[in-house]
Amino acid sequence: MHRAFFPAAIAMTDCLIDPVRLSALLGRARGRVDAEVLAECDSSNSVLLERAAHGAPSGAVVIAERQTAGRGRRGRVWRAAAGDSLTFSLLWRFGGDISRLAGLSLAVGVALARALESCGVRGVALKWPNDLLLDGGKLGGVLIELASERGATAAVIGIGINLQPPLSNDGFALPAASLAGAGFTPDCHVLLAALLDSLIATLDVFVADGFAALREDWQARHVWQGLPVRLLDSANGENAAATVTLAEGICLGAAADGALILATADGGQQRFLVGDVSLRAA
Ligand code: BTN
Repeated sequence: MHRAFFPAAIAMTDCLIDPVRLSALLGRARGRVDAEVLAECDSSNSVLLERAAHGAPSGAVVIAERQTAGRGRRGRVWRAAAGDSLTFSLLWRFGGDISRLAGLSLAVGVALARALESCGVRGVALKWPNDLLLDGGKLGGVLIELASERGATAAVIGIGINLQPPLSNDGFALPAASLAGAGFTPDCHVLLAALLDSLIATLDVFVADGFAALREDWQARHVWQGLPVRLLDSANGENAAATVTLAEGICLGAAADGALILATADGGQQRFLVGDVSLRAA
């Protein structure tokens, strides 16, 4: 439907990333990221996981103009026509125990929201654990894949943000949203530079002080903060008929380790770590 308003040729021309131009726009991330643009790959996460296995350093970034097998969480597909979505991955290496990374996808959500806001996008919200929302629809998502090596962890932080309405919303519980659909058409280079700057700044805070230091900011943007929610077991897919409600309660937000906290009807509290679960309004 959107093709009538945004012809593919225009979208593609507008959003092809020139690494030299991108690098000139970087602030905090200058000298700390090394970005490569691929015209096509299966998944920018897969490319970086492979490179991480061969010793690529923190700050390696792969930007994919087109992915043939883009992935979302829980086996979903991330589908976007070339130029319609900002799709990139950042490699970051963390020392210490892998359990310290439990709140990483929430921290990344804060970084993305701050960057979008700095580019003038209003109404950005977050949904535990990895959704980026705009006007109640899914604007983007975060897929973090980890590889452990000798006491350290390489995290590939994959990010997809819809610039134009996506080709398909298969498997996602929320309706799709896009920047153009909400009337925002930021320059892609400026936006990507802001996202990388914000990610580096946020990763510095996360490494020093953990998600606890970002928690308040996350909760201020959490779409269901203080509201009744249901937590679904979605191991078989979000829309599977057999989806089971694991818990219901009032969403109290996220704990310092990134776990979701619900106040339950019996007066107690329940914690949930990121897994095969999906959060809905009750
Ligand atoms: C989700 O919402 O489930 C996460 C979507 C993450 C998609 C991005 S696009 C860039 C990177 N490469 C992938 O294959 N997936 C992530």
